[in-house]
Formats: sequence, C-alpha cells, structure tokens
Amino acid sequence: WVLTVMAQTPTNIAVIKYWGKRDESLILPINDSISVTLDPSHLCTTTTVAVSPSFTSDRMWLNGKEIPLSGGRYQNCLREIRSRASDVEDAEKGIKITKKDWEKLHLHIASYNNFPTAAGLASSAAGFACLVFSLAKLMNVKEDNGQLSAIARQGSGSACRSLYGGFVKWIMGKDDKGSDSIAVQLVDENHWDELVILIAVVSSRQKETSSTSGMRETVDTSPLIQHRAAEVVPKRILQMEEAIKNRDFPTFVQLTCSDSNQFHAVCLDTSPPIFYMNDTSHRIISCVEKWNRSEETPQVAYTFDAGPNAVLIARNRKTAALLLQRLLFHFPPQSDADLNSYVVGDKSI
Ligand code: DP6
Repeated sequence: WVLTVMAQTPTNIAVIKYWGKRDESLILPINDSISVTLDPSHLCTTTTVAVSPSFTSDRMWLNGKEIPLSGGRYQNCLREIRSRASDVEDAEKGIKITKKDWEKLHLHIASYNNFPTAAGLASSAAGFACLVFSLAKLMNVKEDNGQLSAIARQGSGSACRSLYGGFVKWIMGKDDKGSDSIAVQLVDENHWDELVILIAVVSSRQKETSSTSGMRETVDTSPLIQHRAAEVVPKRILQMEEAIKNRDFPTFVQLTCSDSNQFHAVCLDTSPPIFYMNDTSHRIISCVEKWNRSEETPQVAYTFDAGPNAVLIARNRKTAALLLQRLLFHFPPQSDADLNSYVVGDKSI
C-alpha cells in the first residue's frame, strides 16, 4: 500500500525584513518581521508526500529532479515532524500505522514550484512551509499552525510566515531553544483585499550571494545592522501593525519602502559589500518615488528581497493597471518571453 497527502502553499513577501540570525542552526532571527502571503494560484509550491512499507529510504524530488535530503535543514524538519506523529488509520485501504511505525517507515516527497526556482522569488519560503504542512497532515500531527511554523522556520526562516494567509508577523522570541520564535497571523486575507501585488522580474538569474550567507556576513561585519535590529525595526513593527489594522496605505508605503531601502543599506554596509539590486531595480525605485510624489497620496509601495526583482504593491486594481502601463512604457520588454515577467498576483491566500 501507499498513503499520500498533497498540499499547496503560497510564498510570502516581507514588508519589514528578516535579515540576520542569533542562532544559525535553529534559525532564530535578530528582529521581528512582517510579510504578506500571496494568492496560492500565483507563486506557490505543491508538495505530495507518500509513505509505503516498500520504500527503503527517504527521498525527495524538486521539480522532477531528485535532490539529496542529507542537508541539516531537511533533516531537522523531518525529525521534528516524525517525533510528533500520531496513529493513522485508513479503514477502506486496511492501513493502520502506529506512532511507533513512523520511526521506521520511509517517505517519498515530490515538490513543484509554479514559478522558476532560479528567479530568486522566495522559493524556499513556500517550499519548506509546504513540506512541513503536508508531512504534518500525513503523519496526523496534532500541532496548530503556530507550532508548525516553528518547525518550518528550521527549514528556512521566511518559511514560517507562509503557514498563514493575509499579513503575518514572525515573532523573534527570547527562548534559546526557539520555542517562542513562531509566526502569528495579524489579519486574514480578506482584511485588505483591494491590494494588488505585481512582481517585475528584472533578472531570472540565480542570486550570487544566498540569503543565508549574506545575512551571516552582514551580522559579522556591518556596524549598521545592530542599530537596525535594536532601534529601527521594533518601532517599525508597531507602526506597521497599526497601518495594516487601519488599512492606512500612505503609512504602509512609507514603512515598506524605507525598510526595503534599509535592508539594502545594511547589505552595502557589509564587508565586502553585497549588491542585490541592479541599475534596473534603482530605476524602478526612482519611477515609483516620482509617481508617488506627483499624486496627492502614494499609489504604490516597492520592496526588494535578496535579488534585483521588484515587488510592487498597488493600492487597488486601478492603480495596478496604471502601474503595469508605466512599467511597460519605461521598461519595455526585450522579447515576447519577457512579457511573462510581469507576474500579477492578489495577496490573498
Ligand atoms: C531578504 O528565509 O531565505 O527575503 O533563513 O537562511 O533560509 P534562511 O533565509 P531566508 O531569508 C529571507 C530574507 C529576505 C527577507 C525576508 O523574507 O524577511
């Protein structure tokens, strides 16, 4: 027999960024962060997990290609989920798996991203969240999403925020073991549903410095990062929570853009400096800033992760349509294929 479970998880985009760890192996951050979860029909991971007595080892395939499961991050997630497994019974198929059986049974995992992994669009966030969620369902783990988020966090920090829709806060926590470093939902996907997220794929090349090593170098060498984590982010988190609660778009824009810019400033402050944005990214920032300043109130927020691609958050569908027009005018696609690079997504799950 084979027992399978399939799950789908969207990616999330941070509006107050996570950058820097206080514990590398448990993945504990140096500041809180806030993100918005995208609609699953756009950028998401679909994972199928299967268990069978005929499987002789744990194996995983990513986009159809087998990948090693030996990495510490995968092993940590598998171990944490296995230790919480419960009895599973499928009377129709005549399957009965006890808590003890799970220690010996092996798993096959197949995961697909509906977007290019190489495009630097937060694939690890959706990937680890989906892995943990689907395994928890298969093994009848009774934990709630908050506790599952602490396990997904050990796969990739940003993954813990993908277990909820809407706006999500990852609380850094105080415990050395990470028990209180979990994600909580601030508001659900219906709270601010007029927002539209548009991603301009500036380059689909894989980033040169991974988030993991980039943030390690920043923590080791940047004098600015301590100021950011201790002074700037705690205040911004409170202001951002208020702005989200009140659907205060001008404050949301100001905080989102400033936080993205400060994240890239600490990257520049790293030795040697890390450049994630390129000339096109900078031109997109200027274009949005100029537009926002020419209107009575800001129309669009921008934020950039560890790569040159722009994530643009428009206040409503009408603004999103105007934004797309402006982007196509100022940044004309070089080829027909480039037209696919403007990915339009709703933020709701
Ligand atoms: C810039 O979660 O990819 O996207 O925890 O080492 O796996 P690891 O890093 P990762 O870092 C994400 C960094 C970011 C900001 C964010 O998503 O908050």
